[in-house]
Amino acid sequence: MIDPNSIGEILYSPEDISKRVKELGKQISEEYAGKEIILVCILKGSYVFTADLSREIDVPCSVEFMQVSSYADSTVSSGSLKIIKDINVPVDDKHLIIIEDIIDTGITLNNLKKMLSTRNPASLKLCAFLDKPSRRKVDIEADYVGYEVEDNFLVGYGLDYAQKYRNLPFVAILKEEIYK
Ligand code: PRP
Repeated sequence: MIDPNSIGEILYSPEDISKRVKELGKQISEEYAGKEIILVCILKGSYVFTADLSREIDVPCSVEFMQVSSYADSTVSSGSLKIIKDINVPVDDKHLIIIEDIIDTGITLNNLKKMLSTRNPASLKLCAFLDKPSRRKVDIEADYVGYEVEDNFLVGYGLDYAQKYRNLPFVAILKEEIYK
């Protein structure tokens, strides 16, 4: 069982999240009316958000999965992207939305965007459940954002600490003594 004492303030309850995800799904459905979308879920963190968001989208959509890791280099701000698992469908002329749980430095999303753009999609947008703009190292913004957050260590709703806490149904601040 997760130690409840490791969890600090709960920022977003399951009810808050459900309401916000519904709003995002509605916005995306309206903006993509008459089109088909491929949601590109970036593992692992965005599995929960993608599952919920996809069920709030009412235009035809498929879901594909990628897993990547970015290496930030102190001298090269864009870093580089290692693909651990790629999507295995062609995306040329398709409408893609990359789904992330959080944008921090922006390096992962920036590299992903560049890489997927080379595959000639009809369009490519970015959707992040959480956005930490104060941590940004590269100039990138998501087209759809659930919540803008301050620079705290957050867990839950897909976000982990040492692979745990992803299954919490809320987003909370992890207490400093757990990771320091
Ligand atoms: C997290 C998150 C993003 C990335 C954001 O993934 O899911 O992919 O970091 O950070 P950035 O904006 O600084 O690049 P992580 O590498 O922790 O893997 P996980 O999703 O498997 O937890």
